[in-house]
Amino acid sequence: MELLRIFQERRSIRSYTGEPVPEEALKQILQAGLLSASGRAKRPWTFLVVRERETLQKMARCRPAGAGMLAQADCAVVVLGDEEQTDVWVEDCSIAMANMHLMADALGVGSCWVQGRLREAPGGGTAEEFLRDLLGFPEHLRLEAVLSLGMPAERPEPRALDTLDWSKVHRERY
Ligand SMILES: Cc1cc2nc3c(=O)[nH]c(=O)nc-3n(C[C@H](O)[C@H](O)[C@H](O)COP(=O)(O)O)c2cc1C
Repeated sequence: MELLRIFQERRSIRSYTGEPVPEEALKQILQAGLLSASGRAKRPWTFLVVRERETLQKMARCRPAGAGMLAQADCAVVVLGDEEQTDVWVEDCSIAMANMHLMADALGVGSCWVQGRLREAPGGGTAEEFLRDLLGFPEHLRLEAVLSLGMPAERPEPRALDTLDWSKVHRERY
């Protein structure tokens, strides 16, 4: 498919059928993440793949709202950045998240970005502390976000090119 069409069709999917994401699709999604650009080619990311239902259900409680779809997801990829490796781990991990999200969509797998960095957990503490306690990742690996994955039970409309906000674009001078 043409790349611009893939960008138009990419949407956040929060509702899943319960069917498993094929292992080959998951592999390609992770490959897309591992192929991402990164500052000085540091590749500071770690991808923690979770498929156990009980763990996914606990992960859905890492934030008061916004993470609930993880309870129904078939899989989650927790994206962690090594802050000791580079000062641009946030940018690097964001690119990896975006690439995996787009790859999932292109393969017919639904996915949604669940923000982790700078977010609070219910009842005090951060979403990062909550997930570190649950999943056991070390202190120098910082939480960027979680990509929830599942076979889509909804199909939001693609975005039409004639709805794009061109007032966001300036040329030569602001
Ligand atoms: C940095 C970032 C953080 C996001 N955090 C969440 C989140 O915590 N929970 C959620 O359901 N969606 C989250 N989203 C998805 C956005 O809500 C979604 O991209 C936006 O509403 C536009 O819809 P679309 O992705 O279908 O185009 C996030 C997206 C980005 C890029």
